[in-house]
Amino acid sequence: MKNIIVANWKLNPTTKKEAEELFLAVSNGAKSEAEVVVCPPFIYLSFLTAKTNVKLGGQNCFWEQKGAYTGEISSEMLKDLNCEYVIIGHSERRRYFEESDEIVNKKLKAAIGAGLKTIFCIGETESQRENDETDAIIAQQIIGGLSEISEEEFKNGIIAYEPVWAIGTGNACDTDEAGRMATLIRAVVSKIYNKKFAEDLSILYGGSVNSQNAESYIKNAKMNGLLVGGASLKAQEFVEIIAKSV
Ligand code: PGA
Repeated sequence: MKNIIVANWKLNPTTKKEAEELFLAVSNGAKSEAEVVVCPPFIYLSFLTAKTNVKLGGQNCFWEQKGAYTGEISSEMLKDLNCEYVIIGHSERRRYFEESDEIVNKKLKAAIGAGLKTIFCIGETESQRENDETDAIIAQQIIGGLSEISEEEFKNGIIAYEPVWAIGTGNACDTDEAGRMATLIRAVVSKIYNKKFAEDLSILYGGSVNSQNAESYIKNAKMNGLLVGGASLKAQEFVEIIAKSV
């Protein structure tokens, strides 16, 4: 299984021209054996063409496929625009749009139904970590998010561990701790699905990843890839992260 490096552009860049330039620079520079996925704002998806070395993904999707839901985007629409992946349950969605584990679960089901590979995000806040609630919160998010989703349905699923306090702060998680979290995630998943499935599951780390620390999450924390925000907006930096993540 290849390592998976995901670019989460969030609400960036401001123009179509910049989006096209950034995507082109990444696809020209991505030479490694890693699976590279770019998740731009929805509005740019129809202008960007997935390449053999760079796949497209959505940053979110709605839980229904169509109907009277003003402003929403469905997973089938993403699939139609050649997205192979979708990020679900990012902490910014949980925080600013009040996405609960129940909503995340509905979105995961819809996206799996549309044939997308889901990048299911989990992670504790700073206060949860300070109160020693990290492990319980992680277990709760996994169990809630995967409720009534079978092992067969989640076979292309990916889990991204993104501690909220590490996102966009420059305060990346210590690699030993990230490694401990990967072990914990596999242990929780093995209670839902079988042990082999949990061992083979792709787990990504996200939170202040840059070209300096990328390699250590793959080598030392035994992560199967990275979810990169800020550093994915700088083509050269992101290409360097990809090169170091094989
Ligand atoms: P960051 O964001 O790399 O800017 O910390 C990661 C994410 O939110 O996915």
